[in-house]
Amino acid sequence: MRRRLIVGNWKMCGDFRTNQKRLEDLSSLWFGVHQTEVSVSPAYPYLAQAAGMLENTNISLCAQDVSTRENGAFTGEVSAAMLADMGCRYVMVGHSERRHYHNEGYDLIAEKFQAVCEAKMIPILCLGETTADREADRTFDVIGRQLLKVVNACGLEGLAKGVVAYEPIWAIGTGRAATPEQAQDVHSYIREILGPEGEQIRILYGGSVKPDTAEGLFAKKDIDGALVGGASLDARDFVAICRAAE
Ligand code: G3P
Repeated sequence: MRRRLIVGNWKMCGDFRTNQKRLEDLSSLWFGVHQTEVSVSPAYPYLAQAAGMLENTNISLCAQDVSTRENGAFTGEVSAAMLADMGCRYVMVGHSERRHYHNEGYDLIAEKFQAVCEAKMIPILCLGETTADREADRTFDVIGRQLLKVVNACGLEGLAKGVVAYEPIWAIGTGRAATPEQAQDVHSYIREILGPEGEQIRILYGGSVKPDTAEGLFAKKDIDGALVGGASLDARDFVAICRAAE
């Protein structure tokens, strides 16, 4: 049985005070969630604040990205070792917003995946198709190519150290989540590519997950949790989604 995982992606939103209030609300509402693993992902500048405030909870820390660089003259880069030092348990790699705004390809994403594993953290590999891909019936082809790039670089054994997140780009931030059936179709396809060795790899769904859509998604056998953006910014909604996963 794969333990469900819910990750709150706090993207580029909020300042120190907003994050403080969000973390206080989360800590005060945080009860009754035992089976499901939960992680939150503040932006880099607020990781230390979150690490301190979550210390006595079972909510772990996740980073939104990572550099493949390690020690050296790389101004501005944030290495996997730094994130591990901050107490991160998870690191997202290849989020569609990184792919879109920074032109990140899956060769680089595979390197990031490996850098996170080497720093003894758990990478969350983000995959997803565009509206045009889906409308042209290319979803499985796109997802397959994205996934196999990383499998070819890291091997299935390597991939098994991580988590996969299916985030259809057309569902991110649009309020239009994939239906449970649409998500299950892609998750099942990913599971098929992963094969028996991949049976234990958790596959999360991301893209407009809300408290009223969470239960239907988690009812599907290959949906092992969620990567939540907007709804994770409100502690009540985020805890409701976590409870729906129990
Ligand atoms: O990484 C999760 C995020 O991209 C999804 O955002 O607002 O559609 O839940 P949202």
